Amino acid sequence: MSIPTHVAVILDGNGRWAAQRGQARIKGHKAGVRAVEAILDEASDLGIQHLSLYAFSTENWKRPAFEVTALMALLRMYLRMFVPKLLAKGTRFHHLGSVEGLPAGVVSDLHWLEAKTAHGTGMTFHLAVNYGSRLEIAQAAARCVADGLRPDQVDEAALQARLWTAGVPDVDLLIRTSGEHRISNFLLWQAAYAELHLTDILWPDFGPAQLREALADFGARERRFGGL
Ligand code: IPE
Ligand code: IPE
Ligand code: MG
Repeated sequence: MSIPTHVAVILDGNGRWAAQRGQARIKGHKAGVRAVEAILDEASDLGIQHLSLYAFSTENWKRPAFEVTALMALLRMYLRMFVPKLLAKGTRFHHLGSVEGLPAGVVSDLHWLEAKTAHGTGMTFHLAVNYGSRLEIAQAAARCVADGLRPDQVDEAALQARLWTAGVPDVDLLIRTSGEHRISNFLLWQAAYAELHLTDILWPDFGPAQLREALADFGARERRFGGL
């Protein structure tokens, strides 16, 4: 099996998964976190070097306050629970997104986990929380100005070096679950040449077997990057 260096996942469908069972949406989010745990293990065992998971977008603040609050609480709880697993696998944790607007407790937990896992030599787990690609690119442009770059110095490399993913290779494979066929403001720059794998499976049902299926799909693609 050919293993992509960077796999990104738009994990979607938690709410529908819960609704299908007559449960509250938050139950779907809890089941979604368990799926994340299994995927973290499988991805690291398969030798994927970068795994980016979209957990909360800059647009998700539009959701009802009680859902946002519950998601933030879940995030804090599970980040702590993930620690032994991340340390055991040598996985490094990296927050992708803006800290602005996030509750202080969430920010300190994200930074704490980054510091705690900084010495890992295995996979890097990028968790996108309060992430929006347009915001990321706009902030990179603002940093070019703040760094005093002249217009002729603002090129692709200058912007890329100022994204939250600076130093991280481009996305090779972008997976979206739940049957939606859209990007929802995730890694627009980094996924410019990503192969797309769209599946109807709802995120809580996406397990190691589905990840391997996505990798097999990826392995069968011919990537041309604009060439012949
Ligand atoms: C994905 O599940 C998780 C987040 C965006 C937080 P959703 O909550 O979007 O689930 P659906 O799309 O309503 O089923
Ligand atoms: C995308 O899911 C964002 C995350 C997975 C965090 P959404 O459920 O928010 O996306 P839309 O609204 O269906 O595009
Ligand atoms: Mg959704």
